[in-house]
Formats: sequence, structure tokens, C-alpha cells
Amino acid sequence: MSITDCAKACVRYSSEDDERCRQISENYGLPLSYETDDREYDYVLTIENGVLKLRDLRNRKYRPIYMPVQPLTRVSRNCLLGRAVGKKVATILDGTAGLGSDLLLLARMGYQVTAMERSPVFAALIADGVERINAISAKLSIKSCFADTRYVSRYFDEKFDAVYLDPMFPEGRKSSVKVARPLTVLREFCKDDDSDTEELLAAAIGWAEKRVVVKRPNFARPIMPDRLSMSMRGKLVRYDIYLT
Ligand SMILES: C[S@@+](CC[C@H](N)C(=O)[O-])C[C@H]1O[C@@H](n2cnc3c(N)ncnc32)[C@H](O)[C@@H]1O
Repeated sequence: MSITDCAKACVRYSSEDDERCRQISENYGLPLSYETDDREYDYVLTIENGVLKLRDLRNRKYRPIYMPVQPLTRVSRNCLLGRAVGKKVATILDGTAGLGSDLLLLARMGYQVTAMERSPVFAALIADGVERINAISAKLSIKSCFADTRYVSRYFDEKFDAVYLDPMFPEGRKSSVKVARPLTVLREFCKDDDSDTEELLAAAIGWAEKRVVVKRPNFARPIMPDRLSMSMRGKLVRYDIYLT
């Protein structure tokens, strides 16, 4: 198990897609399991009609999680995230790809997005989603990479105009706030994932030509406040901007 994936997950072997199952297991270091043997796991990655999905084996009432690849229509940059990233940015690294919602939104705003994710399970789901997007649309520019963004300089020769980070939110929300199921699952996998956010931000600042944008809940303090240039505040979240 990786340092990030706290829940136990495997790839379910399917004879229809045996080569792809083996590849996912090998690429992401996840055990390959037959349906009859996967009881010891909490989650299973399965290929269903060509789509990679994450199923909760302990509670089958939950819908599987996968990266949605619709809609792909263009959206304006005149929203809070678009304004935080800015008009002069062309290339952007989403250094915390997670479930892929923000990276898809950024790509739909016309940015060239490279997504990095270090959780093997979520990196596999992102890679599958990105592949499906690229198969149906040549208009969006998205690449994905399974790696730890703290070590971004090892993976790319060129810097990005901007780096976008959405680290796990610190605990502190009111318990009455209902969290969407995919986010609960993400939290289960990446439990103690926010201990190295300063290191992550420092690496991002070193690898962004223009700016780093960090999504934070309004109740949380900024990371590296001394380095913060400005913030754009929404109803629940804000974007902290670090000019480089
Ligand atoms: C809150 S989620 C991001 C959600 C994402 N913005 C979305 O739209 O779905 C945080 C994600 O960042 C990933 N992460 C945290 N630190 C990372 C790092 N150093 N390198 C790569 N991924 C990281 C976690 O594994 C987790 O999947």
C-alpha cells in the first residue's frame, strides 16, 4: 500500500480485458485479484463497458466512482477559478488531480492541462478518464501523470505557466455539511494527506512561471501566508494566489 492510499484496493481480473487489468495492476502497483478472492479488500477497480470504476466492496449500495467525461463544451474563464488562474496563462499543471473535476473544468476553459496524482487508485481513474476524453474530443488538451507533485522537476523539462493545487481540506467543517460520496471516498484513501502541503506548495512555486493557485475552504488559513500575493473569495472556498 502506498503512503497515500489508506484504504485497501485491488484490480479485479476480467478475462475480457485481461491485458488491460494486468497493465493497470503493474503501472499503479495494485494487486490483481479474482472476483472470488477480493473479499479482503475495501475497494475494487473494475472495467465495466470499457470504463474503469471504483466499487466499494463493503457496501454495494454505493454507486461506483469514475472520472466523468461530460460535458466537454467550452466554458468562460469569467468565473472565480478562471479569474484566479488568469487570462495570460496557457499551460497549467493540476498537481492534485483527485477525482478530475477541476482539471476538466480548466481544460474546458481552454487551458492546456497536465494532471498529476499520487494516489495509485485515483491516478488510474484519472488516466482512464483522460484517455476517454482524448478519444472523443480533440479540442481539449489534457495529459495525465501518476507521480508526486512535490518532485515535479523530475518529470518535466519545462515549467508550466501556472500550477493549481487543491490539497485535502483540513478537518473543521460543521458536521451538518453533507459531503458528496466521491469526496468521502477520496478522504478515506488520502487520510493524512495534508501534512506535506507546504512542501507541495514550495515545489509548485519553484515550477510555475507565473503563479500558483491554491483552493482552500474559507475557514482554513492560507498555506505559507508570508508568500501569499492575493486571494479571491467565493461563498465556501477561496483561491489563494502566489505570484512567482
Ligand atoms: C481534494 S483532492 C483534489 C480534488 C480535485 N481538485 C478534483 O477536482 O477532483 C486532493 C488530491 O490531491 C492528491 N495529492 C495530494 N498531495 C499530492 C502530491 N504531493 N502529489 C500528487 N497528488 C497529491 C491526493 O491524492 C488527492 O487525490
